[in-house]
Amino acid sequence: MTTAGDGVQARICNLREEIRRHDYLYHVKDSPKISDREFDGLMRELGRLEGENSDLVTADSPTQRVGGAPTDGFEEVTHRRTMLSLSNAFDEVELAAWHARLCGLLETDQFDMVCELKFDGLAVALTYEGGRLVRGATRGNGIVGEDVSANLKTIKSVPLRLRGSRIPDLIEVRGEVYFPKSKFEKFNARREKEGLPTYVNPRNTAAGSLRQLDPKMTAERPLDIFAYSVGYSEGGEAVDTQWETLRLLDELGFKVNAYNRVFRALPEVIDWYKTWLERVHDLDYGCDGLVVKVNRLDYQQHLGEVGREPRWAIAYKFPSEQATTTLLDVRFNVGRTGSINPYAVLAPVYVGGATVRQATLHNEDYIAEKGLRKGDVVVVERAGEVIPQIVRALAEKRGCSDEQAHMPRKCPSCSEAVIRREGEAMSYCANASCPAQLVRRTEHFVSKGAMDIEGMGVKQCQALIDAGLLKDVADIYALKSQRDRLIAMERMAEKSVSNLLEAIDKSRSQPLSRVLVALGIEHVGAEVAVALARRFREIGKLMGASVEDLVALNAIGPKIAESVHSHFGQESNRRVVEKLAEAGVNMAEGEAEGGDDVDALADMRFVVTGRLAGYSRSAIQGRIKDLGGAVSGSLSGKTNYLVAGEGAGSKLADAERLGVKVLSEEEFERLVTDRTLAMANSVSEEGAESLSIQSSLFKGGADGG
Ligand code: IVH
Repeated sequence: MTTAGDGVQARICNLREEIRRHDYLYHVKDSPKISDREFDGLMRELGRLEGENSDLVTADSPTQRVGGAPTDGFEEVTHRRTMLSLSNAFDEVELAAWHARLCGLLETDQFDMVCELKFDGLAVALTYEGGRLVRGATRGNGIVGEDVSANLKTIKSVPLRLRGSRIPDLIEVRGEVYFPKSKFEKFNARREKEGLPTYVNPRNTAAGSLRQLDPKMTAERPLDIFAYSVGYSEGGEAVDTQWETLRLLDELGFKVNAYNRVFRALPEVIDWYKTWLERVHDLDYGCDGLVVKVNRLDYQQHLGEVGREPRWAIAYKFPSEQATTTLLDVRFNVGRTGSINPYAVLAPVYVGGATVRQATLHNEDYIAEKGLRKGDVVVVERAGEVIPQIVRALAEKRGCSDEQAHMPRKCPSCSEAVIRREGEAMSYCANASCPAQLVRRTEHFVSKGAMDIEGMGVKQCQALIDAGLLKDVADIYALKSQRDRLIAMERMAEKSVSNLLEAIDKSRSQPLSRVLVALGIEHVGAEVAVALARRFREIGKLMGASVEDLVALNAIGPKIAESVHSHFGQESNRRVVEKLAEAGVNMAEGEAEGGDDVDALADMRFVVTGRLAGYSRSAIQGRIKDLGGAVSGSLSGKTNYLVAGEGAGSKLADAERLGVKVLSEEEFERLVTDRTLAMANSVSEEGAESLSIQSSLFKGGADGG
């Protein structure tokens, strides 16, 4: 390269350094040292030099923040460590109970707590390798998120390069992306002026912005981020506390909230909370409580987590926002299970960041307890994503209005009797073939997270049921013999019927977990369904499982177990499963060629030793078991892997002697990811194979196997 070239390269390097520093001072430290004009001058010069020397452009150049091309969709990202959620405390008593429980578990009467604000945005994970941002992902379901790197790069307070002298080889930083309130107002005002639709609240807009397919659109929204934890790190100095973690994040160039505090005693936490009750509205970002975290990381590790919630942290929530409005009507709809669900129709009111028009009324007792009457002035509250609630009616404002609202005696859909079993709060339509229930069940069955049958919206479901073509969800698979009748139906052209039948056909090879979601078993959402499918692998086995078998799974508590058990205890539900299986719907999870077990860790024996950074001992054991593997306490010739953490002792030598492969925690994660992906591929390729297992389907169910 020529000297002039070297000169250009050096100038480019200097400019980038300068720009990074000013970006940091402006967006992270909120203390600009130069004017916007001067800054623009530096950016322009860099842009020009890079334009003339395109071979010198690097991915982490400040010019590349908005460099990403539009995409068709986002890649899935499996997080190295699960992104946890938090349990809540709604008052001092609940917080004190949490503290007392931890004192017991830690065998101490005091421990330091870090108090952070609970930002009302969305969690993301930023991965840096060699100090450079390589990936940014959404939280997703905590296990798998979406790669939104190009969009996260547009956030000026997200460092593209880490700063300081303590940069680890690899680090995954977690934080909350938010849309500052003041900027949101301006953003909306501008849209209004331009005749564009405005957005409802900053949180949802931030979420939508991160999932924009075109990063240029994201770049137009001035999002921001607070970093609050490290999900994973390698090749850096160890830190011992959450407080040090926050300091490290600050040093690495992240925006860390200025109101983080450490307290030793609970009354200090409560005082801090009370201070915030008064001033939370003055913040320029949404905040719905404090997050109280155990400071010492070894304590955190010892405490571990229950399900997806760490024992070592709790969200101490602020009370929800309230407003008053008028109760216009009380109406009822019929749920999937026949439950008669009362809801309030309200005069629209803006509360907790959204306009509320309806609120759930839960059940008969709830309506009676609140003594609700049409025309009442009511107090409603809404917090975050929670369903709006009616707190109370202002009886003093009541005129001589209607009589108190009550449950209907007949089902609003089929006019059959409404019953309420003793000891239960809900009322149900007693008619198992009530068309409204069937519509709800069908809608759910075909929905995106379930069998994902495109072309079957609410209207089609309703029309098919009205036409007598569906008596239960399994009849969907018999529609192909009704092609002519379908084409004769309103709004069903030949092409759309073909597409629909094709989509139905395709859905037969959905994985078992989806089928379980589709069945609409109470309390069985995607996560539970995946856990059930992984553990039982065949629906017959699941149907034969006892409540005890079910609660043995980490993800499953007594309520879910009871619900699953009682669902399959009902003849009509068993019949639907049978019909689905007869129709060729896949009823087994991960059956690879030859019927081998393909749970990610199936047939693998593990021993775990030493201290792991991301898991308590019981958590990693639970994870291995959930993935179909086995865990033993000591090594033998049958052991496949030793997962070794810090301070691993004699087991390492045993492993060497026995030729057992030793995995670091990271290698373990990689093994799980690789095997899960390999498994997912083999499953989707052989989806149609499911027919071969159907002959044995009900054996497990019948003998309880
Ligand atoms: S820590 C410990 N710290 O709250 C596991 N989360 O309910 C939680 N959040 O998904 C992460 N502010 O989106 C943590 N200072 C904070 C937080 C925070 C907001 C969110 C985060 C998480 C959710 C859990």
